[in-house]
Amino acid sequence: MKLSPAERMSRLGTETAFQVLARAEALAREGHDIINLGIGQPDFKTPPHIVEAAIKALRDGHHGYTPARGIAPLREAVAGDIAEYRGAEVDPSNILIVPGGKVTMFFAIIMFGEPGAEIMYPNPGFPIYESVIRFSGAKPVPIRLSEENGFAFDPGEVLSQVTGRTRLIILNSPANPTGGVVPRAAFDRLIEGLEAYPKAAIMSDEIYSRLLYDDREHVSLLDYPSIRDRLILLDGWSKTYAMTGWRLGYGLWPANLIEQAERLAINCHSCVSAPTQFAGIAALEGPQDAVETMRLAFDERRKATLEALNGIEGFRCVTPGGAFYAFPNIEGTGMDARALQNKLLNEAGVATVAGTSFGAFGEGFIRVSYANSIGNIERAIERIKEVL
Ligand SMILES: Cc1ncc(COP(=O)(O)O)c(C=O)c1O
Repeated sequence: MKLSPAERMSRLGTETAFQVLARAEALAREGHDIINLGIGQPDFKTPPHIVEAAIKALRDGHHGYTPARGIAPLREAVAGDIAEYRGAEVDPSNILIVPGGKVTMFFAIIMFGEPGAEIMYPNPGFPIYESVIRFSGAKPVPIRLSEENGFAFDPGEVLSQVTGRTRLIILNSPANPTGGVVPRAAFDRLIEGLEAYPKAAIMSDEIYSRLLYDDREHVSLLDYPSIRDRLILLDGWSKTYAMTGWRLGYGLWPANLIEQAERLAINCHSCVSAPTQFAGIAALEGPQDAVETMRLAFDERRKATLEALNGIEGFRCVTPGGAFYAFPNIEGTGMDARALQNKLLNEAGVATVAGTSFGAFGEGFIRVSYANSIGNIERAIERIKEVL
């Protein structure tokens, strides 16, 4: 019998990094020595006091459902964290705790996306934005990020694409896959221009806000009072606290959307695992020295990676200001991004991700995650030089 999934299923994309990870693991099982610079996750362990808090929560009997929005002390801890790192007062009841950063973007996009709607998203950008926009039936309108601009958007160009049909604008700084950081002046101009479009909601993906280098400041969209009533802020624990596998994130929703967001959660996952939420409190309220230690380690690797990539013939790489990715231009190799990704994996045993996995404007680039040891990064670059 031939089954017939809904038509929208054919429009759902994917995150190639997971496919590269599967292929790299298959090669490793066959005995190949693979260095993984493909996946975007810290290679550190979750700090022990966070793990202990989850174990204690289980021992204390926190085995049941929690409120769909998340337990109150966790939402209060998030509000405290936002006050400390973004200098903004927010109401804990506007916070929805979700299983990972991704869930807030899925909810925001399906809340606004439908045929006839337009949703703007960074390109190259996190691939799930474009995938879910297409899935929703909305028209994806790319915000082009270019190498010349340090992978920040051009506010004039963005504003020229906003229309009366624009329902949602997705922004992400510091960014995946480029490591780009948008300067405050660009945000100032964009937000000022968006005041003429009060019906366009804005989702700011700030999941890399604590991973910034060279004394760069984090510009949160919470800094702009004129858009507060239509701003959805996405953040989570995955990248800051090395907690990718715990599945913990949050969305800060405007008062007029939080109930609908909560309803999506109730229809989907009910609530986040209770012990994970206790771990989240320990992460936010406990010592932050591990966060800084990891950031310093990433910074050292960033410098080593950048220098090494710029030493490969055919590569040139702008300095990434945040996150843990470098996004070198590889046009000088004469290969397209996908061909180079495959060659590096199959012949050099180095996993990277083709820029085109992050959107059409990623052609001519590959993403190199430097969330790996300096020794491995150096070995990987030597092998890349050999096969090229
Ligand atoms: C820009 C961006 N947003 C959100 C996420 C999702 O994070 P999580 O693993 O917490 O769902 C990622 C993960 O790679 C990301 O790069």
